Amino acid sequence: MTRVIAVASAKGGVGKTTLVSNLSHVLTELGKDVTAIDANLTTPHLGLHLGLHMVPKSLHDFLRGDAKANEVVYYHPYGFKVVPAGLSVNDLVGVDADRLHSFTLKLLGKTDFILLDSAPSLGKEATLSLKVADEILLLTNPNLPSVLDALKVAKVAEKLDKVILGAVVNRVNKKDELSAAEIEDFLKYPVIAKIPEDMNVQKSLAARSAVVDYNPASPASVEMRRLAHYLVGKEFRYNQGLWNRLLGRFR
Ligand SMILES: Nc1ncnc2c1ncn2[C@@H]1O[C@H](COP(=O)(O)OP(=O)(O)OP(=O)(O)O)[C@@H](O)[C@H]1O
Ligand SMILES: [Mg+2]
Repeated sequence: MTRVIAVASAKGGVGKTTLVSNLSHVLTELGKDVTAIDANLTTPHLGLHLGLHMVPKSLHDFLRGDAKANEVVYYHPYGFKVVPAGLSVNDLVGVDADRLHSFTLKLLGKTDFILLDSAPSLGKEATLSLKVADEILLLTNPNLPSVLDALKVAKVAEKLDKVILGAVVNRVNKKDELSAAEIEDFLKYPVIAKIPEDMNVQKSLAARSAVVDYNPASPASVEMRRLAHYLVGKEFRYNQGLWNRLLGRFR
């Protein structure tokens, strides 16, 4: 059975694309067949995060009716599949965003996980990935504006009868405005991961790589691995290993 999960936040820049690319990597390591789709059609970044932005045909071509579904699915060297969106403003012309639904339907049964990298806001585009998904990961940063926006996503997802897996708090540091307990109280959903602020995430982005690969021992990588294990119901045992420890120090 294919699980279709949207990583969603109404607030921009909280780390949706980062989480999708890293979860795709770890779930693949855990033996799952993963397809990551860039459902952020107006400001897509998934291909950029993963070094797969210069592609002959993108999701936009499918949505416009100019490409078949299998022509816009690319294999990442890490072993998962990526459906990048087009980067040019011209790509938006003539696109029927609702075809995203038929696109994911074609993948059902052919992959274990479809991870949707959602657009920010709660406009038509962002709501579309909530509609297409069965399960939602609410992503937030530990501050009030971000949590308020996550609450709005939760409300829309509830109206759509979606399963909310919980909240993932990203960029956690010692000076946070809100604690995990306060966020849970606010959202009425459990915080299932607390990903620390970690400069390795930005370094990995500059290297067009997932941080779980770039620096597997970094604090953000460890927490993203823990979350991936949680999603598949596997116990997480952290074994840093000598090589990863040395690599972590070096980077
Ligand atoms: N845990 C973290 N520690 C440090 N930097 C992070 C962390 N998570 C994400 N970032 C950085 O935050 C920035 C925004 O991340 P990202 O692009 O994943 O956000 P987004 O929610 O997808 O944004 P958008 O709403 O524009 O699509 C990037 O520069 C990324 O490297
Ligand atoms: Mg993004």
